[in-house]
Amino acid sequence: MIPIIQTVNLSKVFREPRKDPGVAGAVKALFRPRFDAKVAVDGISFAVEPGEIVGYIGVNGAGKSTTIKMLTGILVPTSGEVRVLGRDPHRERVANAREIGVVFGQRTQLWWDLAFIESLNLVAKIYEVEPTRYKQLLDQFSEILELQDLLHVPIRNMSLGQKMRAELAATLIHEPRIVYLDEPTIGLDLIVKDRIREFIKHQNRDKGTTVILTTHDLGDIEELCQRVIIIDAGRLIYDGPLSTIKERFGKYREITFQLAKCDCTLQPPIGAEIVAREERQVTLRFDRTLTTASQVAASAMSQIEVADFSLSEPDLASIVKQIYNGALEQVTV
Ligand SMILES: Nc1ncnc2c1ncn2[C@@H]1O[C@H](COP(=O)(O)OP(=O)(O)OP(=O)(O)O)[C@@H](O)[C@H]1O
Ligand SMILES: [Mg+2]
Repeated sequence: MIPIIQTVNLSKVFREPRKDPGVAGAVKALFRPRFDAKVAVDGISFAVEPGEIVGYIGVNGAGKSTTIKMLTGILVPTSGEVRVLGRDPHRERVANAREIGVVFGQRTQLWWDLAFIESLNLVAKIYEVEPTRYKQLLDQFSEILELQDLLHVPIRNMSLGQKMRAELAATLIHEPRIVYLDEPTIGLDLIVKDRIREFIKHQNRDKGTTVILTTHDLGDIEELCQRVIIIDAGRLIYDGPLSTIKERFGKYREITFQLAKCDCTLQPPIGAEIVAREERQVTLRFDRTLTTASQVAASAMSQIEVADFSLSEPDLASIVKQIYNGALEQVTV
């Protein structure tokens, strides 16, 4: 398949004016400005196929938003190449704009004073959305994002969660083939987050919308992405399935037993240790490279009377923390 988005050695260097301290410094800077180079994105190459949902993650300042801005044509790359649907997104900005939608979680693109429905009507006009299709989409979006009660509310009066739902509807009303979402769930409660994730999933499943998602919320990633790209200090450090990271770094798993009786001792098998113990519950953590869940369970059940047990998934948050802390450097991916 032909990639819908492709970057080759994409880089962005910002020039920041350097100022020496004090008045003398300020004067000097005025007459002979000097610049520091800040490499925000450093030679990133990847390709995205149509219909993928890719999580683009990394610590604060890693270069995520800068990449998104180059993909959308807002920023011009310093070097390297970016192609979106075969076009240069900056040079062919108008043509590109028809095919994409962008949401920046921290700011709204809607008209502040207009009632939401008026904003939507305008967006639909600008993008020439066919009227019957518009009506269909409006009904569909209203249902999934629960917009019914918001249609006549001006954006300025909306809460953060309401604004974000409105924003997503307006961004997707022209049915773009690619959506860039830069922290779409930032600051939102769990219920709104769920709704937004459902909506993104629905658009992707229904229309094959390609999604690039940056987020610090790993719940978003778990819910939506099969593939993740991790960047660190502007460089790509991982590009591949989420499951691979989990397997590689999710070395430890936990198994919790509910006990039928409380007066019993348990000797953990090799590769496992007790990490929590309550009156009728005990949790063992085990190293998957040394033993298996069934071995641990069998060993425990031969020693104690077990009423029930549960196995936890590897914890993505701790895995990603390890990776951000440089764990990937020790392994070749
Ligand atoms: N317009 C600009 N001028 C100068 N430096 C910039 C500019 N925009 C971004 N930077 C710098 O580039 C680096 C990458 O910033 P970017 O916003 O892409 O990070 P990010 O990964 O989106 O971080 P966050 O998770 O905090 O949103 C940062 O060091 C930032 O200070
Ligand atoms: Mg950012």
